[in-house]
Formats: sequence, structure tokens, C-alpha cells
Amino acid sequence: MTDREMLPSNWQQFVDTCQSCRQCALGTTRNQAVIWRGACHAPLMIIGEGPGAEEDARGEPFVGQAGRLLDLLLKAYGLDEKTYHIGNIVKCRPPENRVPTEDEAKACRPLLAKQFNLVKPKVIVLLGATAYKYFTGGTEGITKIRGQWIEKNGYLILPTFHPAYILRNNRERVRLWEDIGLVRAKLEELAILPPLIVQPEMPTARK
Ligand code: URA
Repeated sequence: MTDREMLPSNWQQFVDTCQSCRQCALGTTRNQAVIWRGACHAPLMIIGEGPGAEEDARGEPFVGQAGRLLDLLLKAYGLDEKTYHIGNIVKCRPPENRVPTEDEAKACRPLLAKQFNLVKPKVIVLLGATAYKYFTGGTEGITKIRGQWIEKNGYLILPTFHPAYILRNNRERVRLWEDIGLVRAKLEELAILPPLIVQPEMPTARK
């Protein structure tokens, strides 16, 4: 995790709370709580579903194949770990990589709210249907809702496809790419990032 060596005391307390959390059964089966990757304080917060096996082993979100694809697309738009903070709806790996249940997402929500208050993002990206559903309460399918900005409590929220879905459906890569382009444009509009001089091209590597 970026910034991890010199964690401010409020972050260290938060990490300790997450690691000792047993608010749901996931806390008893995972190796460790997977909290974030990137900057502690960032204008962009990216939220996925829940850690997989690699994340559970390494203690960082999106370090597997889906994470590598996400990083590739973000980097092409000049978005790096200083700009974003990545986390998940649930911090503990659901066994067999199943989708977290509503109760698990609910149990983890106070921790996500706390994380949110520490990061203080302006723009939030929700990766996939599960993140969209549990974060906003919305019931629309991700295909319908992706790429459309939602304004809520002063935050700008963009649902998009989960990179794991793109790994299975490479034809849709361009949709995730377009949505990351919207995020870059929004950060420029908010004067958080300078305008890009050259429009980037979508990386086509499979991983
Ligand atoms: N998928 C997620 O939703 N989160 C991770 O951290 C890794 C894969």
C-alpha cells in the first residue's frame, strides 16, 4: 500500500480496527483485511466488490489480473497511485470468491464510511454491479447505468464495468476505457488535474 510506512495515527487506528473486525463471518475465514492501495488522501476513490485470493494473500486490493488491467487503463490516462485510493465494498475475502451478501456489505459499511471520511474524495468510481448496488442502493443493471454521473451529497459517482468482467468480455474494454476517460475529464474540469496534451490510446494488451 502506498504511504503505508508512515501512516498517520488516525489511519493506523483505522487499520487496527479493520484487522480486528469480526462484525461478520468473513473476518474468521480470511487471512487479513484488505483495506486499500494508493494514496491515503486522494481526489479519486475507486471501489470494487471484495478481495480475491491474491488480495487476501498480499493485503492489497486489485493486485491480481483484474487489477493489472485496471492499472493499465488508469495509467494510460495519467492516473497513478498519487491520484487514487482503491478499496472494496467488503474488506475480507468471501470464500470461493463468491459475491458478498447484503448482510456482509452492511456489516462492512461503517468501515467504508470511515475510510471515506479519511480519504475525502471528490470523485468515486464504482466497479461493477455489486459495488453499484451496495454503495448507492440502486437496482439498475450495470450495463444500463454505467458511464452516467450520479451526484449525491456533493460527491460525483460514476458506475462502470468491473475489470474482471472485461477480462471475460474483451469486446467491452472500450466501455471501461471510455468511462475512465470521463473520470479523467471530470478531474480536469474540477481543476484537480491539468488537461492532457495528447489524447491517450486504449491499451489493447490482454493483461
Ligand atoms: N476484485 C475486486 O472487486 N476487488 C479486488 O480487490 C480484487 C478483485
